[in-house]
Amino acid sequence: MLSQLCTKFRSTSYNLATVSKNITMPSTPRRTFFLPGDNNGPVGLYNDRDYWKGKGFVLDENAKKALEEYIAIQSKTYDSLEKKYGVSADLWRNADYRLIADQRPPIKVAVTGVAGAIGYALLWRIASGSLFGPTVPVSLHLLELPAILPKVKGVEMELRDSAFPVLKDIVITDNAEKAFEGVDYALLVGAQPRTAGMERADLLLKNAEIFATQGKALNRAAKGKDTRVLVVGNPANTNALIAQRNAPNIPPENFSAITRLDHNRGLAQLKLKTGATLNDIEKFVIWGNHSATQFPDVSYTLINGKPAREVLNDDNWVEKTFIPCVQKRGAEVIAARGSSSAASAASALIDGTRDWHYGTQNKWTSAAVYSNGEYGITKGLYFSYPVIYQGKKATIVKDLQISEYQREKLKATEKELLQERDGVAKHLPN
Ligand code: NAD
Ligand code: LMR
Repeated sequence: MLSQLCTKFRSTSYNLATVSKNITMPSTPRRTFFLPGDNNGPVGLYNDRDYWKGKGFVLDENAKKALEEYIAIQSKTYDSLEKKYGVSADLWRNADYRLIADQRPPIKVAVTGVAGAIGYALLWRIASGSLFGPTVPVSLHLLELPAILPKVKGVEMELRDSAFPVLKDIVITDNAEKAFEGVDYALLVGAQPRTAGMERADLLLKNAEIFATQGKALNRAAKGKDTRVLVVGNPANTNALIAQRNAPNIPPENFSAITRLDHNRGLAQLKLKTGATLNDIEKFVIWGNHSATQFPDVSYTLINGKPAREVLNDDNWVEKTFIPCVQKRGAEVIAARGSSSAASAASALIDGTRDWHYGTQNKWTSAAVYSNGEYGITKGLYFSYPVIYQGKKATIVKDLQISEYQREKLKATEKELLQERDGVAKHLPN
C-alpha cells in the first residue's frame, strides 16, 4: 500500500493537488501511520480510501510537508531532510526516530488533574508518541492539587520508567502559572467528576472556580495566540467559557471543549448497527452541550456514500435508541463502572488534540468551539458544531440546511448552555 502511494506521488512530480485527485484507493480498514513532518513533527495520515481518493479534499500545509518528507524518505533523498531540519541524513536514512526526536524542540503540553483516572490513561498516550508521532518530543507540564502531589511523584516515576523516546521533560507543580508557562497545548482535565445520580449542572459551581483561576494563569503564562486549550473537566462547555473569559490574551477560537467522546460514541453505535467500518461513516455531528441535551445528528451523515437515514431505514431506532444512547452514555458508563469514563475520554482528547494540530483533511468532526452566532446560536457560547480543522484552526461547517426538527433540538441544548452561563456569571469578567 505504501509503496503504491509513493509510486503515485513520484509519477506526478510530487504535485500533491494532482495526486489527491488521481488516486483511487481500494477500500481498506483505516490505519494511521506517522511521517516525519514539518517543525511540529510527523503528521498522522490515514491510508484509508476516503482520505486518498481525492473527492475535492485539500491537504493542509502540515500534511503536504509531511508527504514531501515521506517521498524524500522513500526516494532515499535524505540530504534534503538534513538541509531542512539540521538532523543528519544518516538518522533519516536509518529511520532512527528516537534520535531524530532528540534533536527537535519539544511541544509543551500542560495537563491538569494528572493523578486522576483520565490523567493516568492520557499521559501514556502523549508520552508514547501516539499524540504527535514518534519523531516529535514532548514536555509534560503536570498540574495537581498540593495534597495530591506525592501521588503525582509516583506517576512521574512510572512515566520515566516507561523510557519513552519522545518524552523530553516532566514538570510537576501545584502552581497553575508554572504549569502553563510557555505551553503549546493546555489540556484541562482536573475537576471533580460526576458521581452516580448527579447531573452535570450540580458540578457547575464546584468546578467554576477552578477554571476561572486556571484561565487567569493561562492568560499570564501561556503563549497567547499560540496556545490552544482543550477542556475536558465537566461541565466542559461552560468551563471552557469561564477559562476563556478569564484569559483575554488568548483568542477565544483557541479554546474548545471536548465533545469528541460523544462523537466517537455516535460513530461506534452506527458501526454496530450497520456493520459499516468507521471509515465508511462521514458527516456525523454532535451539536451543543456535552450533556444529555446534546443533539447527536445523522441528518447529513453518509454511510458508504449513502444518506444514513436511508441506510438505517429505521427512524424509530434513530429517535428512540440511538440519540438517547449517545446522550446518556456518560451516565450509563458511570452506572456500570462506578466511576466516569476515563480511557475513552482520554482517547477522545488525544483524537481532538491531534486533529487540531495536524488537521482533518476536510473531514468533519465535532468539537465545542466559540460561537460567532453560527446557526442562530448565541455568540460567545462554546457550542458543539461540525468542524473541520486545518492549519491549526477549527472552521465550523457552514450553510447546512436546518429543519424545524433540528432547530428545536439546537435550541434545547443552547438553552441549557445559557442557563449554565448565567449560573456562573460572577466568574465571567470580560
Ligand atoms: P478524577 O477524580 O479521577 O481526577 C480528577 C483529578 O483532578 C484529581 O486527581 C484531582 O485532584 C484533580 N484536581 C481537582 N482540582 C484540581 C485543580 N484545581 N488543579 C489541578 N488538579 C485538580 O476525575 P477524572 O475521571 O479524571 O475526570 C476529570 C474530569 O473530566 C471530571 O470533571 C469528569 O466529569 C470529566 N470528564 C469529561 C469527559 C468529556 O468527554 N468531556 C469525559 C469523562 C470525564
Ligand atoms: C462522560 O460523558 O462520560 C463524562 O462527561 C462523564 C459524565 O459525567 O457523564
